[in-house]
Amino acid sequence: MAPTTTNASIRDFANAVALGLSDTPRWLPARFLYDAKGSELFEQICDLPEYYLTRTEAAILSRSAATIREITGPVTMIELGSGSAVKTDHLLAAYAEAGRPVRYVPVDVSASILRVAADRIEETFPSVNVAGVHGEYEQAFPLLAEFAPTMLLFLGSTIGNMDHSESVAFWRRVCAAMPLGSFVLLGVDLMKDVDLLEAAYNDAAGVTARFTKNLFVRMNRELGAALDIDRIEHVARWNAEWRRIEIGARFETAQDLHVAPLGRTFRIEAGERIMTEISRKFTIDELEAYLACFGLELIRTLTDDRRWFALMLFRKGDGECW
Ligand code: AVI
Repeated sequence: MAPTTTNASIRDFANAVALGLSDTPRWLPARFLYDAKGSELFEQICDLPEYYLTRTEAAILSRSAATIREITGPVTMIELGSGSAVKTDHLLAAYAEAGRPVRYVPVDVSASILRVAADRIEETFPSVNVAGVHGEYEQAFPLLAEFAPTMLLFLGSTIGNMDHSESVAFWRRVCAAMPLGSFVLLGVDLMKDVDLLEAAYNDAAGVTARFTKNLFVRMNRELGAALDIDRIEHVARWNAEWRRIEIGARFETAQDLHVAPLGRTFRIEAGERIMTEISRKFTIDELEAYLACFGLELIRTLTDDRRWFALMLFRKGDGECW
């Protein structure tokens, strides 16, 4: 597989960082959180007691995988941002049980995590053929038609990490690429008590703080940022107006942040915050109405007893893509 850091990807990183740091308020693009270390830390986040999302979604998948298979029939499963893909096992097991060979296409920016997942799945499920794609989501879109019938898996409430314009651009592309009758299985974190939401992003063990800070460690390594990481604090707070957790870093002291490949330096003031990620929370009704604008018809919603998380199964109808 291709190495994760090439000259082109460092240039891309540098340009994206410069763009976000030139804005007011400042921000950094969340996709750069997931280098090898960031992906490893995210896997640890998924096991934290406060981070209920992964556990709750896995429980729904384990209970409902057979129902999902009965609705979709045989499909190639294409999973965006698959990570370790451990919870996908529930689906793979249910589809493999039907007795036909199953094709699974995990898509992830981390080559290492993709390799580990593919090896594990092929060993656990001999009838599952894994065709991993190392790259960004866009690379998966042509496969929706090529491998039809397909089901696009977008789990873990990753949709919540997109802002409104990214989300519209994403669903437009999905809508344009999806053949009629194909499926989307979307995992979404639902609105709930603010204390529970904030705790999920401020764990006692400090793993989420390390995940946020790792972005600055990466900037030191790849961009020569020369930051004092010990003077940067992780902050995660609920924004009620935008219905999202806002995650980022607060600089305890003023620091110069160098973006060496571009020969630029940004002065970050003491007390200043840089947003690294948003995590939007949803209601089922709003998503049903929203995705109908992209030709996706809600077929079934599966949720847990506390209604903390939902898996929503959509089918591509002949409605217009907005
Ligand atoms: C990947 N994504 C759905 C996570 C979330 O909950 O928004 C990312 C995350 N960041 C910090 N903790 C979890």
